[in-house]
Amino acid sequence: MKKQFKKVTTHSLAEMKANGEKISMLTAYDFSMAKLLDGAGIDAILVGDSASNVMAGHETTLPITLDQMIYHASSVVRAIDRALVIVDLPFGSYQGNSSEALRSAIRIMKESGAHSVKLEGGKEIQESIVRILSAGVPVMGHLGLTPQSIYKFGTYTVRATEEEEAQKLMEDAMLLQETGCFALVLEKVPAALAKKIAESLSIPVIGIGAGPDVDGQVLVSHDLLGITKEFNPRFLRRYADLSTIVSEATENYIKDVKSNSFPSENESY
Ligand code: KIV
Repeated sequence: MKKQFKKVTTHSLAEMKANGEKISMLTAYDFSMAKLLDGAGIDAILVGDSASNVMAGHETTLPITLDQMIYHASSVVRAIDRALVIVDLPFGSYQGNSSEALRSAIRIMKESGAHSVKLEGGKEIQESIVRILSAGVPVMGHLGLTPQSIYKFGTYTVRATEEEEAQKLMEDAMLLQETGCFALVLEKVPAALAKKIAESLSIPVIGIGAGPDVDGQVLVSHDLLGITKEFNPRFLRRYADLSTIVSEATENYIKDVKSNSFPSENESY
């Protein structure tokens, strides 16, 4: 039987994997959206650095700052009753300097009240992960397409299609588990490779564009809800068309204001 978790913790996610229950995860960056997702029963909420694209309109995730991530994360945390909240450490706040990584993670935990952090990369950031874990902060890993490295990759295309990169990915996934990460996001990699990694690891593997044979799925909520219309990767399933709903509602409001049919007598004091 599916176990009901009153509050989802990193241990709950491990239990879900052990019980074969898939983990549901979505992004949120503000109070109102987080409240809706949590109320609907989502297991985990990622305050992703995709806020840089979705909230701020930047082309990449690189510009968002640690202060901005803390602002988004604290807004989300205030809305949550049940879900586990994971916050991305933004670009430049942890790479190449484990003391700075620790400082950044501690600021996120202290100033936002979130439950864990996520970092992109494998062996090259292991020292930073060790330092953060030593402070008692749970860490989620992120491998495959890691958008903070977009200028190294040059494109957002599927990763690890060649044997050498697939091998490195497998080694990094093992290393993140051995280092102590509680879970791993795998982004845009072949489904067969993701399946092999999920079967080899005891920690949960949460996929985005990684096929069905992983331990859970994550999407950017604005993509799934059809708010961002121009982003159409193969892995995205749209569950709503909010852009049409918002546009039509706005057009109707404008029409009513212009024709003076809003507000009516009942809507006035
Ligand atoms: O920032 C983000 O939204 C992410 C997900 C795409 C996994 O890292």
